[in-house]
Amino acid sequence: METVVSGIRPTGNLHLGNYFGAVKNFLKMQDEYKCFFFIADWHSLTTHPHPGNVVENVRKILAEYLACGLNPEKATIYVQSDIKEIAELYLYLNMNAYLGELERTTTFKEKARKQPDNVNAGLLTYPTLMAADIIIHRAHKVPVGKDQEQNMEMARKFARRFNTIYGSELFPEPASFSYTGEGIKIPGLDGSGKMGKSEGNAIYLVDDAATIRKKVMKAVTDSGPTEPNSVKPEVIQNLFTLMDVVSSKDTYDYFNEKYNNCEIRYGDLKKQLAEDIINFCSPIRERIMEYAANPDNLDKVAAAGAEKARASAATTMKEVRKLIGFR
Ligand code: TYM
Repeated sequence: METVVSGIRPTGNLHLGNYFGAVKNFLKMQDEYKCFFFIADWHSLTTHPHPGNVVENVRKILAEYLACGLNPEKATIYVQSDIKEIAELYLYLNMNAYLGELERTTTFKEKARKQPDNVNAGLLTYPTLMAADIIIHRAHKVPVGKDQEQNMEMARKFARRFNTIYGSELFPEPASFSYTGEGIKIPGLDGSGKMGKSEGNAIYLVDDAATIRKKVMKAVTDSGPTEPNSVKPEVIQNLFTLMDVVSSKDTYDYFNEKYNNCEIRYGDLKKQLAEDIINFCSPIRERIMEYAANPDNLDKVAAAGAEKARASAATTMKEVRKLIGFR
């Protein structure tokens, strides 16, 4: 059976981008593959050196994972920092990762621009840590959103390079995966591209109905189409992209036709979109509250997951050390 690995940083609550880009695939994959889903708390230190109460932030994501339907009976669910073997593999991978290629990655350049006072080595080597996360379980498939494409390319490169340098076939080349065929990008409602925690444009799974309505009604629109069947400008396409994932096909088709006939009323579209997002989020929100109210249970889930993930990581690391030449 093929192995799957993916993770999310505990830098805030999960939003619709995280859900449709990643978690939705996790849910189906846990029935079909050997799955490892984790919380990438070390990665969050590259941008949040003082992440506040790490334990609380990690519990928050764990509660959200479970509320979305991740099942610890089916998938191994754990916290990255509980698996010290990942740090060791990260170290070895860094010995064969070059400054030039790390500096060229778009996410590094973007983050360096965003936080010029903190261009730390962890930020530079973010892709090697991500590669370590993935290949520590010798994963074949990695369900991630479109924004992770370059990191995935680097992970493949580092896996291949390790195999070549140490004359082995230990690591498969991990492929990005989505049931939709290609990586998903959920847009923000401010017309500025992707929905993101740091972009301030996200709708969170824990948002209540009033918050969701307010956010959706504020979404940027234009003065409407002037010709039938015209191409939708980005801000409008964004609303339709969201509608495509949360609303029924009939609803989507109804508003699409209105748009094509130049009869669209954005107020109506937004009202409908807000209600559909609320219907999607509210049962998840309720379950999040239930899981969050029982932190002992969350800690138990993380401890059991860590034990399983550690065993898998230890098996790989034994091979890695032998191949490099350690006793
Ligand atoms: P992170 O925490 O930024 O995001 C977690 C997952 O959510 C996806 N995502 C989106 N998908 C579609 N549209 C959006 N607007 C959107 N925003 C976020 C991301 O693509 C991702 O799948 N580097 C990773 C964490 C990580 C990881 C790994 C992932 C660390 N090690 C190993 C896979 C395997 C990250 O920053 O994700």
